[in-house]
Amino acid sequence: MSETKTAATSGLELRDPRTDRSYALTLLERGTEGDEAVRASDLRQVKVADDDFGLLSYDPAFMNTASCKSAITFIDGDKGILRYRGYPIEQLAEKSTFLEVAYLLRNGELPSQDEYVKWVHDITYHTYVHENIAKFLTGFRHDAHPMAMLTSALAALSSFYPQAKDIFDPEQRHISIIRLLAKTPTIAAMIFRHMKGLPVVYPDNSLPYGENYLSMVARMSEPRYEANPAFAKALDVLLILHADHEQNCSTSAVRAVGSSHVDPFSAVAAGVAALYGPLHGGANEAVLRMIEQIGHPKNVPAFIEEVKGGKGSRLMGFGHRVYKSYDPRAKIVKKLADEVFAQVGMDKDLEIALKLEEAALNDEYFVSRKLYPNVDFYTGLIYRSMAFPTSYFTVLFAMGRMAGWLAQWEEMLLDKEQKIARPRQIYVGPGERAYETKLTDFQPDMRKDSIRK
Ligand code: CMC
Repeated sequence: MSETKTAATSGLELRDPRTDRSYALTLLERGTEGDEAVRASDLRQVKVADDDFGLLSYDPAFMNTASCKSAITFIDGDKGILRYRGYPIEQLAEKSTFLEVAYLLRNGELPSQDEYVKWVHDITYHTYVHENIAKFLTGFRHDAHPMAMLTSALAALSSFYPQAKDIFDPEQRHISIIRLLAKTPTIAAMIFRHMKGLPVVYPDNSLPYGENYLSMVARMSEPRYEANPAFAKALDVLLILHADHEQNCSTSAVRAVGSSHVDPFSAVAAGVAALYGPLHGGANEAVLRMIEQIGHPKNVPAFIEEVKGGKGSRLMGFGHRVYKSYDPRAKIVKKLADEVFAQVGMDKDLEIALKLEEAALNDEYFVSRKLYPNVDFYTGLIYRSMAFPTSYFTVLFAMGRMAGWLAQWEEMLLDKEQKIARPRQIYVGPGERAYETKLTDFQPDMRKDSIRK
């Protein structure tokens, strides 16, 4: 941006009536799909006095701020479009596999046959975790929330790979990415077994990725576990659908924490913590709890009225910061649910979910706010029909999102424009004031006091 005395001839012109100065704001090069932006730091030149800090942009919750340039995922929220590296989600869900998608997200292109074989081999080779991770998990109570266990176990994993701190060594980055994709399902399955009080099942590396995970979850005394093909397919599709979603809350957390140059295990642990929340990945758990609370299709109208009244809870699984039409993933999930239910029988609460959806899609409150079902609305019903406990659903989301977190983490590290994430604030607290204690029994040597005194 440059200051001008006359109107800007290119870009945008900003006039400051306080000083009667005009500034030409340079528009950044357009994104692939035509997005336009100005650089927020250019505003710093807008000053009233020479020693001013300069104008800040204020954007709570980043409603209108691009924090990075990214070549990984594209979303058009108005049209309901989602693409990974240019490939429509519908095509990837139908034709690809989760590991192929994970390769695509990280490398930018689909793998050749040789590249795919090596990628799958490497991930399969690293599925085992140090035995101390299994022991670590036994320290949790049986009813510990599985997302708390996953956050902790991934953070703990960082201590097993001190060399992962060498994040500017491409080999270290690569092996960390392989390890995280390989070991997350193993840890997720160990968490499941801990919740159930069952012995750990170790990976069976002759099985494909998703079936290996299902074997670690469900195998009992049989020598080899054979997953229900409908479950194996559903799991793979759900992992693909959850694999990335550009700069959502958890991905932004991974990028922000990773921008301090911490190792990737610690950065993705922050992502898991962010995902845990009910407004983000935790919504799949919240949807089922809401449906259970509604209890019967006849109670749906009253529940909808309660939501609209704004006093009770939100309609979980509805609404999205970016999608202002039907979430394309929700469409795929709904169809997938039909396929799974055709195999294992209808979920008892599907009727409530369908009634909720119908009621909301025909209600002015939801229509005017462009609130449509999101990916989490139907996933819980599928997970439940696969016998996963409700509190465990978000762990499955995390398994898929791991691929996106890692691709985004690496993209952030290699982006020359990125630095440690450090937003500014607008301070609204008290101005300077002198300290004067309000304690009535003030002792000058108070720091020595014991709390027991
Ligand atoms: N039920 C009822 N009202 C809603 C809902 C909902 N689910 N979502 C938004 N609204 C209303 C909200 O009250 C507000 O109304 P008003 O303008 O009268 O104040 C308006 O719609 C805009 O809401 P907002 O909170 O400003 O929208 P946002 O973009 O900040 O929030 C959201 C997006 C996903 C957090 C929100 O829609 C929500 O809480 N949904 C339910 C939780 C959920 O399903 N989360 C999963 C998101 S998809 C997967 C993922 O990201 O992990």
